Amino acid sequence: MKSVEFARRRRQLMHMVGESGIVVLPSAPVRTRSRDVEYRYRQDSDFYYLCGFAEPDAVLALVPGRASGEFLLFCRERDADKELWDGSRAGPDGAVERYGADDAFPIDDIDDILPGIIEACTRVYYTMGMYSDFDARIAEWINALRSRETKGVHTPREFVALDHLLHDMRLYKSRAEIAAMRKSAKVAVRAHERAMRRIRPGMYEYEIEAEFRYEFRRNNAWVSYSPIVGAGSNTCTLHYVHNDQVLKEGDLLLIDAGCELDYYASDITRTLPVSGRYSDAQRAVYDIVLDAQLAAIDATRRDTPWNVPHDTAVEIITRGLKSLGLLEGSTQRLIKDEAYRRFFMHRTGHWLGMDVHDVGDYKVGDEWRLLEPGMVTTVEPGVYIPADSDIPPKYRNIGVRIEDDVAVTAKGPDVLSKGLAKEPRAIEEAMAAS
Ligand code: GLY
Ligand code: MN
Ligand code: MN
Repeated sequence: MKSVEFARRRRQLMHMVGESGIVVLPSAPVRTRSRDVEYRYRQDSDFYYLCGFAEPDAVLALVPGRASGEFLLFCRERDADKELWDGSRAGPDGAVERYGADDAFPIDDIDDILPGIIEACTRVYYTMGMYSDFDARIAEWINALRSRETKGVHTPREFVALDHLLHDMRLYKSRAEIAAMRKSAKVAVRAHERAMRRIRPGMYEYEIEAEFRYEFRRNNAWVSYSPIVGAGSNTCTLHYVHNDQVLKEGDLLLIDAGCELDYYASDITRTLPVSGRYSDAQRAVYDIVLDAQLAAIDATRRDTPWNVPHDTAVEIITRGLKSLGLLEGSTQRLIKDEAYRRFFMHRTGHWLGMDVHDVGDYKVGDEWRLLEPGMVTTVEPGVYIPADSDIPPKYRNIGVRIEDDVAVTAKGPDVLSKGLAKEPRAIEEAMAAS
């Protein structure tokens, strides 16, 4: 992402916050995996969104209208010894030169500097409750100011949740963000294509997961969530991540895998026949989910309420389940009673962006939000048939989900993950290629 994009975001946020407000945002903490081994560091999405600075131990402050500088960054100092082990740091000088901060300071000096800047403000905006350590730091700074109130020191009177402003900004993707998301989706599409070519009965689910990780890393991307690679009855476990079972001839394989590239996520699901050909029963279920997905994508249009793609999918799936003999009764009644939820128990989509389940409200007050250009959602209906005694054996353990990433535009739905086989015939062809 170019530095002008970060500058534009800061300007927009500062405009909403207004003079006499201050935004304070911490970087993500380093997290321990086990004993002295850490997880790979991933910057906090809100923090990165505003400055593109990817180091830990940093705090960003935006002070609209402050004459001596509006964008301040507190970060680690340069340290030759530590950099020898962990790699280079920008340091305060680098924060100014490379990240456009108006002023930057060592993070160790924050207690001496930031309270004095907060003192001049009446409103403090921060992501309350996100990091309890940071909430406590803010309270300490405010208490330190309060203890000096009798000496004429001023303390802010309002503490405002930053999420509402910032997450609403993040919900509307700019042209540059849509381009980044298209690239992320493209890498994920290539990984799915690679996996389709490799699947053979007798392989293990983890071998297929490995194809995704390989394709992601060779494109400088990482998984955006733990890949779900489940065959047979595992297709019916929504968040299956063990990925350690064998692929059996005749089973379905559900793969839900996406990547994060340049801080933007993709999230794609395909359901494939392990043997390269769908059985009639699998195909019958697949066709219902595909019809539902195509109709839900078509409903992903501006000025359409958020729930309409879901309701569209629910109706098609309910009718489909009736046609298979798995539900009986009037379609309207089955929908009203949510009878379909035995087989389709999740929503049809979620916002997608820097996070796979991205930020942004789905309702405004009590009303579903209207879709608008720049919003990006997944469209991912599914049908999961349990192995219960009242289910005809041929349908048991069939789980099908089809998921694509869709941007709302003035011209209609724009499928960012387009090009990946989805029609049964196209999937069978893609799997036959080697
Ligand atoms: N991969 C997570 C989801 O589809 O929501
Ligand atoms: Mn998914
Ligand atoms: Mn999803």
